[in-house]
Amino acid sequence: MIFAGTNTTAVTLEWAMSNLFNHPQVLEKAKQTLRLCPAAPLLLSHFSKNECTIGGYDVPKNSMLFINAWAIHRDPQLWNDALKFRPERFQKCQAEAEDYGYKFMAFGLGRRACPGMALANILSFALGSMIQCFEWKRVTDKQIDSAEGNGLPMPKAEPLEVMCIARDIIHKELSSFQRNSY
Ligand code: HEM
Repeated sequence: MIFAGTNTTAVTLEWAMSNLFNHPQVLEKAKQTLRLCPAAPLLLSHFSKNECTIGGYDVPKNSMLFINAWAIHRDPQLWNDALKFRPERFQKCQAEAEDYGYKFMAFGLGRRACPGMALANILSFALGSMIQCFEWKRVTDKQIDSAEGNGLPMPKAEPLEVMCIARDIIHKELSSFQRNSY
């Protein structure tokens, strides 16, 4: 639980911030990192107890199975503009929203899917608070390096380095907190 629940969430937050820095125009609609940068690109290994057929392929009994969610999430046959960071594709109210039923699988699918998925939604609150409470800037004019490193959960090759300044909202919160604590 500790391994599966902590680093996955931290790494996804770092990827989300990196994607947003490279797409400042979508800062308000932050939510598409899990498709392009899934923390577990091959999910976890699965094992077939019986013969089965997956996507037209016959899988013998007792095989170890890896699902390449990373590739499925970037497959141009499944996604419009597959490599584009375009959060509105997930907004149900938008005309361009896509049906992502079984093609989005950052948390796996079925009985062995991630049991922490609901908890991982905390990620949106963390990201939302970071955007709401701080103004963020890149340290240079260069795009943030989106190269992927090795390991699980999938890390950034170069750790994200950015600057932040607290917004007014946080000064107000902190001063009311100080007043209330006396
Ligand atoms: C952004 C955050 C997270 C991502 C992307 C993620 C992703 C995944 C994926 C892909 C799997 C494997 C599913 C499969 O192979 O079909 C998994 C399994 C698992 N996750 Fe998560 N996870 C996240 C957060 C969490 C949290 C917060 C917890 C618990 C506090 C958690 C607990 C687990 C456990 C225990 C398993 C193993 C389930 C099993 O084998 O039956 N995960 N997760």
